[in-house]
Amino acid sequence: MTSDLATIPVLDRFRRPLRDLRISVTDRCNFRCPYCMPAEIYGDRYQFLPRESLLSFEEIERLTRILVNLGVVKVRITGGEPLVRAEIDKLISMLGRVPGIEDLTMTTNAFLLSQFADKLKEAGLQRITVSLDSLDDAVFRHMNGRNFGTERVLEGIEAADRAGLRPIKINAVVQRGVNDHTIVELARFAREHDYIVRFIEYMDVGTLNGWKMDDVVPAEEILDRIHAEMPLEPVEANYKGEVALRYRFKEGDGEVGVIASVTKPFCGDCSRMRLSPEGQIVTCLFATSGTDLRTPLRDGANDDEIEAIIRGLWGLRDDRYSEIRTMFTDEPRKKVEMYHIGG
Ligand code: GTP
Ligand code: 5AD
Ligand code: SF4
Ligand code: SF4
Repeated sequence: MTSDLATIPVLDRFRRPLRDLRISVTDRCNFRCPYCMPAEIYGDRYQFLPRESLLSFEEIERLTRILVNLGVVKVRITGGEPLVRAEIDKLISMLGRVPGIEDLTMTTNAFLLSQFADKLKEAGLQRITVSLDSLDDAVFRHMNGRNFGTERVLEGIEAADRAGLRPIKINAVVQRGVNDHTIVELARFAREHDYIVRFIEYMDVGTLNGWKMDDVVPAEEILDRIHAEMPLEPVEANYKGEVALRYRFKEGDGEVGVIASVTKPFCGDCSRMRLSPEGQIVTCLFATSGTDLRTPLRDGANDDEIEAIIRGLWGLRDDRYSEIRTMFTDEPRKKVEMYHIGG
């Protein structure tokens, strides 16, 4: 059952619509990237969410249908690492049948991707984004915190390519003094294989990574380094609110992107809502807390009641953290951790 209100799109306080939904399906991950889940903190005894706290696939599907009614057209599955959630392909096929979703994709570290690529494609996943911070084996071993080499990730990407999960995007977080000397190599590799690489400015998400502005390599500098080897020119955004700034290679095919959330914030068009594994709605990557939807879901609220909660929440939304971050960077602030809500 849907209410008449469903035909009126929901706008927040800055008149931004709700278009994208990022669903984190687990808080677990098989990597321990120091900038996200430092191994000293997330060790063997760390208590991740118990299974009964996680939203079931049926609950996720139901919320997704309600959110599509409110304007969502893009859905991204994230984590943690989404491929460690048991039978994740079942969730994809359930979401693949929801009318109104135009773009259904996933962000993964690809460690398990070679065994999942075909299943995901069959289930209805359209494309995939892989996090891969460097092709340099030693750098990568350090950056995933588990001493895993690049081989399995590269096999996973190839399997996704063969399965037709295209376009394949590669996300690389750039940290000064850690992997910034490997940017051009990754850009060249992606170009040769027809993948789209996006370099991400290291952000002050969460509270555990000891972020400092000195660790950030500004997008301008990333582009200059690539441009010096392979000349670039800017291209228009694919859609309003696109996170990456796009550039094409002047000679030949291919494009690269930069995600400049620190030096060129893009809150003005932010239409993203995040759903945490235990059913909290989070309206900004830098939010201090979320709003619980699991309780009303499990207490028997009907679709109209759930929709009213979300509508109210989005209507009050005034998040624009990246635009005003300098007001906060000197004071410690409680923030949701990145692995929990999936980037
Ligand atoms: P496409 O749909 O392929 O354009 O991808 P996307 O723009 O949604 O990008 P993706 O989900 O791959 O996000 C890439 C990275 O951008 C994330 O991992 C985050 O680091 C960053 N990012 C994504 N959304 C936001 C956001 O709303 N705010 C900020 N500050 N960063 C974001
Ligand atoms: N800054 C920028 N990107 C980050 N990611 C995780 N932590 C950070 C951070 N502090 C990226 C991951 C992955 C995506 C989900 O978010 O590398 O590509
Ligand atoms: Fe896992 Fe991604 Fe966080 Fe690395 S950045 S620990 S792969 S969730
Ligand atoms: Fe959106 Fe918050 Fe990111 Fe700004 S900082 S783009 S409001 S998620």
